[in-house]
Amino acid sequence: MASILVLNGPNLNMLGIREPGVYGASTLKDIEDSLRALAGKLGVELSFYQSNHEGALLDEIHAAYGRHDGILINPGAYTHTSYALRDGLAAVGLPVVEVHLSNIHKREAFRHVSVTAPVCLGQIAGFGPLGYELGLRALCRHLGLETAN
Ligand code: DQA
Repeated sequence: MASILVLNGPNLNMLGIREPGVYGASTLKDIEDSLRALAGKLGVELSFYQSNHEGALLDEIHAAYGRHDGILINPGAYTHTSYALRDGLAAVGLPVVEVHLSNIHKREAFRHVSVTAPVCLGQIAGFGPLGYELGLRALCRHLGLETAN
């Protein structure tokens, strides 16, 4: 069975509490639960990891090599700053989909640039928790797994 790593970066453990007007009321656990349900339908296995630390996220990306078939990532603010995460994603060479709850392109100027998106298959932004489900479907489609579900 194909295996996807779902990575969440800094402050995403605070979803539900954090700026609900921007990020909504869902917690990270709610998002993970809905992804788990979808993964069951799609027939893929998911592993979840969240960290507020750049190096820990990078270690997890490296560990995905040879273990997972793709990565679904919300790098949080590291999206805009982390050449290390970008290089790590490029290094392992796995297909990656980047997700953002908010539409980063209509927010502050510093959020308009993603240094990680250029090493991803694509980016989904602005659809709240649904973006994770869309991202998982996109990865599965890329891996030739998604059916008509
Ligand atoms: C975010 C957008 C980032 O700019 C921000 O730093 C986050 C969350 C999003 O999901 O909308 O932490 O990645």
